[in-house]
Amino acid sequence: MRTRYRAAALALACLAGAGAVAGTVRGRMQDEPQVQDRTLPMFMQAKLDYSKDVLEGLTTADFTKVVQGAQALRKLAEDELWRVNPNINYVRYTEEFVRLTDALEAEGQAQDIDGAALNYVNLTINCINCHKFVRDQRVTRLDGERLRR
Ligand code: HEC
Repeated sequence: MRTRYRAAALALACLAGAGAVAGTVRGRMQDEPQVQDRTLPMFMQAKLDYSKDVLEGLTTADFTKVVQGAQALRKLAEDELWRVNPNINYVRYTEEFVRLTDALEAEGQAQDIDGAALNYVNLTINCINCHKFVRDQRVTRLDGERLRR
């Protein structure tokens, strides 16, 4: 009788333990996507904010804004959050993005408004093309549907 009680108690303890573990795992799984969900969109959204800064700089001939916006954009591409996908096309769009932001910075510094304006347009096309690619290929961990609004 006593052994049976002990076995039952042991079984209960095991169940409680397993429950606790399952609880933590579930808790963590619930937490993580939330954290990720906020971080990545905020990071990506910064591209739009900085490119608006560049546009503002170009339209008001404020070259400091152009240079700073281009530098901030370029920095984003160095962040590990940028590398959501190892696909070669994604890497190529990224390389083009870096090349264009570098050029934009140099043109801003040289106060070359026409060159900077042209590269701003090229950069915008680069944004759109990479997004088109991401949408079509579903290459991210996240759903490419996010880019369709
Ligand atoms: C090399 C590819 C690439 C380039 C270039 C790129 N993006 Fe993105 N962008 C992404 C990816 C990947 C996401 C996230 C998609 C997802 O949520 O699955 C994203 C998301 C976004 C979002 C949405 C954030 C949200 O609310 O979910 C905005 C806004 C954005 N990018 C703006 C830009 C702008 C502006 C540029 C150009 C200055 C740009 N992107 C260039 C790949 C790129």
